[in-house]
Amino acid sequence: MLLGTQRIDENGHLEVGGCDTVALAKEFGTPLYVIDEAEIRKTIRAYRAAFDEVYPNHKIYYASKAFLTLAMARLVAQEGLCMDVASLGELYVALQAGFPPEKLALHGNNKSLEELAYAVDSGVGHIVLDNFYEIENLSRLARSKDKTVDVLVRAAPGVDPHTHRRIRTGQADTKFGFNIIDGSALEAVKMVLKSGNLTFRGIHCHVGSQLLDAETHKDATEIMVGLMADIVRETGVAVEVLNIGGGLGVRYKSDQIPPSYRELALKVTTALKEAISAAGLPYPQLQQEPGRSLVGEAGVTLYTVGAIKTVPIKEDPGTRTYVTIDGGMSDNPRPQLYDAVYECLLANKADETLEKIVTIAGKHCETDILIWNTLIASPAPGDLLAVQTTGAYNFVMASNYNRFLRPAVVFVNEGQADLVVKRDTLEQMIVNECIPERLR
Ligand code: LLP
Repeated sequence: MLLGTQRIDENGHLEVGGCDTVALAKEFGTPLYVIDEAEIRKTIRAYRAAFDEVYPNHKIYYASKAFLTLAMARLVAQEGLCMDVASLGELYVALQAGFPPEKLALHGNNKSLEELAYAVDSGVGHIVLDNFYEIENLSRLARSKDKTVDVLVRAAPGVDPHTHRRIRTGQADTKFGFNIIDGSALEAVKMVLKSGNLTFRGIHCHVGSQLLDAETHKDATEIMVGLMADIVRETGVAVEVLNIGGGLGVRYKSDQIPPSYRELALKVTTALKEAISAAGLPYPQLQQEPGRSLVGEAGVTLYTVGAIKTVPIKEDPGTRTYVTIDGGMSDNPRPQLYDAVYECLLANKADETLEKIVTIAGKHCETDILIWNTLIASPAPGDLLAVQTTGAYNFVMASNYNRFLRPAVVFVNEGQADLVVKRDTLEQMIVNECIPERLR
């Protein structure tokens, strides 16, 4: 599976964004996150165009939790999208990149007073409220600053998406948002309306992530329109915005086929239009927060192959070959956390016959398997392994486990490679550490 601008060059090397991955590994070292800039731009434009066509009154907030660096925030700003941030850190990076604050939305299920104050002071466009405690806190804070803050109320639509249990968010039994069924969501809206310094703009939901069909989005949309109708009936206040979150999946393996953007757009907006006219409501602005689907397939991680070991096993075919790489769960924890699957290829032998079934093992001090039983060209120490679809939730979830240095990130575009995040250094690793006097 070749993704985005990837191709195999005349030397049999994998090329991304017009750059030879073997040359990238030489210049920047491995492990290395390589981001295909043109692919991100293309994806953003295709996503937007699909919704422009069927529902022009819409806005896309890129969910920065999927992948955020200063350069990425610039790219998102250049493409004219809005952006969702879900922590002090994400907000800080966005603002440091010069992202227009009014195009930011702040999320979080336990926002601190510091986060709320930072968001209000920097003038973020709106805050998505998650719980009653937060409504009180934000309202008090806004009053003390003599400001008015636009808010959305996050609701849990009670739908059950078909995705890994750890990345479901919109079911009824969830820590996120206000329950619709027990009346909490409506109660929250009433509380906002009474609060004075908060301006109610609309409602929000996010049903889950890596969804490979649009059914859950459709179901959630219908339920949310039901909530809109309840709000209008009970309060007489219009719901200007309906945000249905993100969640569209990507191809980690070639047999995982997410719906096209057009298919998603059609399904969601048809359901929306039908439900809105049945309820006799004015059309809301449709907002979305895709993260993974805008960046996932644009990332590839390069590793250097080290030790290769074949061990006897009971099952067929009687042996397993472990191909060890110079990274693992510290740069991609997703296989360990979510049983995530990936495809890979030998980037320096991209034109060679696939002939060996191997297991790609990380170098951390535990099982740390990145990919079980995958077919690649005949591997040797020193080869370059490229793991596909690592643009989302890899760099941002990287850790220093085993005191590894987090990899660098490069953006590639039309033959040019630019470092956007330097590799961690050993010096940097201990910069925040102190030795108490008694241990000296
Ligand atoms: N909006 C909200 C409120 C969210 O919670 C999320 C993701 C998104 C938008 C973006 O969803 P996306 O389009 O990326 O599916 N670390 C996990 C994914 C957790 C996603 C959590 N929320 C993983 O690696 O699969």
